[in-house]
Amino acid sequence: MSDLRTHIEQLVRQALQELPGLSSLEPARSEPPSGPLPAPPGAPVLRFGKRVPLVAANWKMNQLSASARAFLTALEGHDRLGVQTVICAPHVLLPVLAAARRQADLVLGAQNFYPEPAGAFTGEHSLDMLADAGAGAVIIGHSERRTLFGEADALVARKLSTAVARGFMPIFCIGENLAERQAGATFRVLRNQLVAGLSGLLPPFPEPERLVFAYEPIWAIGTGLTATAEQAQEAISFVRERLAEKFSYAYAEKVRVLYGGSANEKNAAELAAKPDIDGFLVGNASLQAATFAAIIARTAASKGRP
Ligand code: PGA
Repeated sequence: MSDLRTHIEQLVRQALQELPGLSSLEPARSEPPSGPLPAPPGAPVLRFGKRVPLVAANWKMNQLSASARAFLTALEGHDRLGVQTVICAPHVLLPVLAAARRQADLVLGAQNFYPEPAGAFTGEHSLDMLADAGAGAVIIGHSERRTLFGEADALVARKLSTAVARGFMPIFCIGENLAERQAGATFRVLRNQLVAGLSGLLPPFPEPERLVFAYEPIWAIGTGLTATAEQAQEAISFVRERLAEKFSYAYAEKVRVLYGGSANEKNAAELAAKPDIDGFLVGNASLQAATFAAIIARTAASKGRP
């Protein structure tokens, strides 16, 4: 009986895989990919190391205007060595930072918004308001928004397409929780989050440099546990392969994918040395300018930008 059931399940799985459009919704294999996805005929071979590294601070619900200004002054005293730097601050601090900022290439980002242009949405902020306050980037799909504030895939997808249409640089977060990792479901979770999150993104796509992803294993966020460089590289290369499926190989090659989850000045060098890890989304260790600057410096060094 159970043999018959297994056989039927196998047949259904096979049939689903053969139906165009459905295969991407199928649960992914739970084993790590054995190697890079074969490039379609004529596609350029994926080459890495051509992306500008990016390090983003996620201050979450921290800092006041005085500490935000002091942070900015201190950070601007460090050479950022060509690493694109984003500070995702609480909304009320964006105008404070915009006024204090001396270096225009320091990008300000928000941590949330509501994907409508205006209207009766008590307590929310539109992208126009955030742009007006100085933000050019925004975090979308962070696990704290998903779990603490109940943001489901449909809202996350709408936020992504709205942010892209409005010219913002989204930092789109995905990641598995501990139970999912332990169950061998990491790749399935990442694939499903990507398929759902990217579903509203239709051609023409933004320039690939303006689309940023962050792999943030939930079990590593704020816990002091970090994914090993190998675990992070494996997950991020899986993400890049899925991006190549959605867009193209040439496009995916230019998209930055960050690691987030207890990244700090001690582990940044080893993580950033991995070919697919293009930088970091940093929570706790982004609250002090010296520590954040050290992460930027380690990233630059590992990416060969001394
Ligand atoms: P953490 O947070 O660096 O404190 O783990 C990262 C994040 O939530 O983006």
